[in-house]
Amino acid sequence: MVATLKEQLNFLLKEAIRLLQSEGIVPADFDLAKIKIDYPDYGRGDYATGLALQIGKLIGKNPMEIAEILKKEIEKQHPIEFERIEIAAPGFLNFYVSEKFLLGELEKILKEENNYGRGKKNNKAVLVEYSAVNIAKPFGIGHLRSTIIGQAIYNLYGFLGWKTIGINHLGDWGTQFGKLSYQLFEKKLKGASSKEAVKILGKLTLADFEKIYVEFHQEAEGKPEMADYGRQWFKKLEDGDKTAKMIWIACVKTSLKEFNRIYGLLGVKIDHAIGESFYLDKIAEVINEAKEKGLAKESQGALIFEYPNEVLPPAMFLKSNETSTYFSRDLAAIKYRIKQWHPDLFIYEIGSEQALHVRQFFLASELLGWAQKSQFVHIGHGLYRTAEGKFSTRKGQTIHLEEVLNEAIVRAEKLISGSEQNKNLKDKEKQQISEMVGIGAIKYNDLSQHYSKEIIFDWDKMLNLKGNSGPYLQYVIARCQSLLSKAKNRRGLDPREVVEMAVEERAVLGMLFKFPEIVAEAAKLFSPNLLCNFAYELAQKYNLLYEKLPILNAEKKEQKIFRLALTKATAQILKNSLTLLGIKAPERM
Ligand code: ARG
Repeated sequence: MVATLKEQLNFLLKEAIRLLQSEGIVPADFDLAKIKIDYPDYGRGDYATGLALQIGKLIGKNPMEIAEILKKEIEKQHPIEFERIEIAAPGFLNFYVSEKFLLGELEKILKEENNYGRGKKNNKAVLVEYSAVNIAKPFGIGHLRSTIIGQAIYNLYGFLGWKTIGINHLGDWGTQFGKLSYQLFEKKLKGASSKEAVKILGKLTLADFEKIYVEFHQEAEGKPEMADYGRQWFKKLEDGDKTAKMIWIACVKTSLKEFNRIYGLLGVKIDHAIGESFYLDKIAEVINEAKEKGLAKESQGALIFEYPNEVLPPAMFLKSNETSTYFSRDLAAIKYRIKQWHPDLFIYEIGSEQALHVRQFFLASELLGWAQKSQFVHIGHGLYRTAEGKFSTRKGQTIHLEEVLNEAIVRAEKLISGSEQNKNLKDKEKQQISEMVGIGAIKYNDLSQHYSKEIIFDWDKMLNLKGNSGPYLQYVIARCQSLLSKAKNRRGLDPREVVEMAVEERAVLGMLFKFPEIVAEAAKLFSPNLLCNFAYELAQKYNLLYEKLPILNAEKKEQKIFRLALTKATAQILKNSLTLLGIKAPERM
């Protein structure tokens, strides 16, 4: 990939430091990886670094002097993209990108449109596992984050030229199915012929399954032996018992139908849905391998995976009744994925509460010699909560995602109905826009915060048309578009016609070109929130321009052309950002 300007600057700084090292001014062991480049506030350049302060402190010299030396060294390399380097007390270096470069990028954006910043195919494959909802349980708010963040990460890597493999690791196996089948059989199927049973099962909804599962737990409180029945039924299922299998198939079918409706609403598409059950016949091989390598051992009738020096607690490989475990299925999944796709990178988007489990199967894969530590990433997201506390119903049950999404759409409709220009929308269009705005609001709210943080679910903030929200960005895009459609005689931009830039114009221009480097950084740090922040800042800068400077009625013709070009590029970059985040933008709103 072509180096971004930030990477070029990093290179220039490195070269300068190396020179100072050879002259003995900077210690030879100064770590070049420590060079940090920031985006300063407007007016302090396009990039800034506190490198001179760092070095000054290290060698006990005045940082202003170091900054001076660094500046000279960099200028010697004649970086044409940087027209000015400024030193600001107490020793910062501020870099100003040349207008020529910025205008060149503007032209590129207008020409390349949604390909601006796209990376070339790079021969590397990344596997992103996300969503991983559980069969026979409702798609709850608990799986929303994994679904949304995972999709954004998948999009980012794909955009940068990686081969992407998206996996929905469906929770379709485990002791919970034993409990469910036991209860279902006792309450609904006992005495029925197999034909009747199929019919009964076909009529059950996901909500019914949920009810039956809750019932099991309520009854089990007074009857401890029920836990055993659950285990027995799970054993039956693993051993291929016909009735157990029939119940399981019905659960999977009904669940997938409902899940796909929700994925449709969310606009999420995952390449492969592969349930945990898929790996059952692949576990024996993994166990043999672990035994051969001295990593598996019997313990109280069960089989465990042991970590040398007890760096992690042992993981359960097989239970004493020989049924598989969450761990063994995950480990077999990795082996299969390596064989199938040879990923260079594995990204797992799973709630942070499962961190230990994830570390266990990551490390197990390393110890088995399948992959290296650096190939594994766990994006451990924080929980959703409300201002009052835990996000759940009064009875402590999970909140159904579909209800939340539908409420978002209803609220979005109210929001857009408030504006004059939406009064004459046809019902169908209104519904489409409401969906984009409502779902976009939920997604943006999630993605705009770092994944590791807890998210407060606050409708007002999510749908705030004036704040850092999805609808706000969608609104800015729509407004740009409406402005552009009003402009007659549009013609191509010729940067040579720009005489002198206003502060507001330079501020927008100074944002647009950063898009490719922000995308790269968001992918590298698994942080879509960086892209959100960027889009929000761009929208705000553009708003200032929109408020302060006349566009269609600009005094000079070239001003009008330039501002329209900035308007078009802003809409384009905002749209590109939202697309990567998995958020649609309506043409008007
Ligand atoms: N289905 C699991 C759950 O809902 C999440 C699966 C996460 N992925 C994994 N490879 N273990 O808790």
